[in-house]
Amino acid sequence: MLRDEMGMEMTKALYPGTFDPVTFGHIDIAVRAAKLFDHLTVAVYDRPNKNVLFSTAERVDLVREALQDHGNITVVSYSGLTASFARQIGAQVLVRGLRVVSDFELEYQMALTNYKLAPDIDTVCLMTSQDYAFISSSMIKEIFLAGGCVEGMVPPHVIAALRRKVAALRDEMEGKVKLVSLKE
Ligand code: COA
Repeated sequence: MLRDEMGMEMTKALYPGTFDPVTFGHIDIAVRAAKLFDHLTVAVYDRPNKNVLFSTAERVDLVREALQDHGNITVVSYSGLTASFARQIGAQVLVRGLRVVSDFELEYQMALTNYKLAPDIDTVCLMTSQDYAFISSSMIKEIFLAGGCVEGMVPPHVIAALRRKVAALRDEMEGKVKLVSLKE
């Protein structure tokens, strides 16, 4: 249990996700949760059930840079069950963002599952601000890879990271093509 300098109990919350990459929607949820709870750990899940563009370390760095001005937010990576990790760090609350009605079904299922696994930890869902309700990380990647503009949806350092990643992937692809033509 986390206590302040007066020995008072502090509420620690955990905001888990893939963050591939972090968007203004995630930042909005994290900043608002950090106002509600004494401490917020934003935890980047290392092996999500979907393909990721950025490595775990890259995703952590991007979230860290986005939230560096908030003294009560820590950014880490984790593996395994979210409920176990919440227990491990002493979090009493799991924070999730709800964008649209269709998010509810999965969040409800996840909240009930996590409650079954750790009944001492509750899930709190915050409504994503209307401005960001349409954003998802996949959509950001899709728009960017197709040459579209993602300004206003992700912070500038994420746009720079997307640029670097796309350039690196392009170099990698060109290298492979050259290798094939050399063999021929
Ligand atoms: N603003 C913008 N986008 C948001 C958002 C918000 N407020 N909230 C969610 N999203 C987007 C995410 O970017 C993500 O987009 P993508 O699918 O295009 O990448 C999508 O909505 C789904 O996000 P989310 O529901 O947060 O899933 P996630 O993949 O980021 O995280 C974990 C899911 C990691 C928390 C969950 O899979 C987990 O707990 N895994 C660990 C194993 C475990 O414990 N399993 C049992 C849990 S029931």
